[in-house]
Amino acid sequence: MKPLRIGLLGIGTVGGGTFDVLTRNAEEISRRAGRPLSVVRVAARNEAKARKVVPASIPLVTDFRAVVRDPEVDVVVELMGGYEPAKALILDAIEHGKHVVTANKALLAVHGNEIFSAARAKGVIVAFEAAVAGGIPIIKALREGLVANRIEWIAGIINGTTNFILSEMRSKGLAFADVLKQAQAKGYAEADPTFDIEGVDAGHKISILAALAFGIPLSFDKAHIEGITKIEAIDIRYAEEMGYRIKLLGIARRRAAGIELRVHPTLIPARRLIANVEGVMNAVLVKGDAVGATLYYGAGAGAQPTASAVIADLVDVARLIDADVNHRVPYLAFQPDRIGSEPVLPIDEVESSYYLRLRVDDRPGVLADITRVLADNMISIDAMLQKEPAEGEAQTDIILLTHETIEGRIRRAIAAIEAQPSTRGKIVLLRLENLA
Ligand code: NDP
Ligand code: HSE
Repeated sequence: MKPLRIGLLGIGTVGGGTFDVLTRNAEEISRRAGRPLSVVRVAARNEAKARKVVPASIPLVTDFRAVVRDPEVDVVVELMGGYEPAKALILDAIEHGKHVVTANKALLAVHGNEIFSAARAKGVIVAFEAAVAGGIPIIKALREGLVANRIEWIAGIINGTTNFILSEMRSKGLAFADVLKQAQAKGYAEADPTFDIEGVDAGHKISILAALAFGIPLSFDKAHIEGITKIEAIDIRYAEEMGYRIKLLGIARRRAAGIELRVHPTLIPARRLIANVEGVMNAVLVKGDAVGATLYYGAGAGAQPTASAVIADLVDVARLIDADVNHRVPYLAFQPDRIGSEPVLPIDEVESSYYLRLRVDDRPGVLADITRVLADNMISIDAMLQKEPAEGEAQTDIILLTHETIEGRIRRAIAAIEAQPSTRGKIVLLRLENLA
């Protein structure tokens, strides 16, 4: 059978990995796809660098537009990253009737609604397995394997860089900046690592998962996002003393009033499998009403794991290229005319449990004043830890874990407790999820 002809845009970490795996496993992949997968054009801005990976037999150009318009190309694989020129090139490829495979979660989370709509009008595939959780086939699971279920919630460790940083900080006591440098050297971090450490990359990914799970449009602009830069070693330690690990989680949950869409550092019970996902590994927990909880685990970043997902998409394209357009799986799992309009809830309306660390005067009545404020706001305490004041100090740390409550109540309670004269400085708030 005629090969699937691939035009590759960008040949960095993932592009190089894709090239390696396609070459190494060519025979096995073609037996699965029913035709060979053949890279026929590569676009790179630095030819000399790209030639180290691309053999002389494959044309290498610096004109990216020439590749997306080339009649010899069936599918364009965008592995450049960023918003532009990636968006313009993908839209141009679609306009020229090319199928598209991309790992670019930033682009899809922000401009995906427009890209899918253009692709639908042209009847071409846009596949994006590599955009979430690297090598884990979570897109396939949500779009196909779990279609019988009403999805209740998703909670995922979906950024390898931050999981690597938190793991190394906890287990080796290393400093944040040093571990970030290691993650960059290993090719895990985004071109702009603030996307990783500020939770933006995880926000892109959970927005994509939420659209697939709940049949809503991509809603990254409404997600609540916090990163790991404010996490202090002391909170990692106190959490551990109380039986919890801190992970950067992407959470999407269906509530009666709408959808929770949030990324933030989260305490999770240390006994949960997902709490023990360390290093660059990712894991996604999906709770469906029929199947119950399912857990997907694997490498969330890196050249070859991500290539595994890119090539899975290419095989899907190879198998479906001649099929009737109406027989394809919808881009976002739900039929486009059946996308819902549930609102994304503002953070004040989110329900969670909380970890609060307070610095207070160590004298009678202080704890009673704090618990009174919590009771006034209908917040129930689940556990408490009070540390001995250090030698010669008149203040101490109190750590409170609450039962589930509405975030607006916690914020009101924190403001009232911070206003008490016995409270010193700002209260540290972290969310806690039992994931039961
Ligand atoms: P790299 O930076 O390693 O590679 C990007 C490639 O695209 C390089 O060849 C680069 O050229 C080229 N490129 C980037 N911007 C431009 C531009 N404006 N014009 C022309 N060429 C450009 O990135 P990755 O391979 O790590 O990431 C690629 C995509 O995959 C991104 O969308 C990323 O988010 C996603 N992804 C990455 C994962 C990973 O583990 N790294 C995992 C999952 C997804 P040059 O070499 O000259 O800079
Ligand atoms: N920077 C991303 C991460 C790459 O660290 O998870 C994979 O999407």
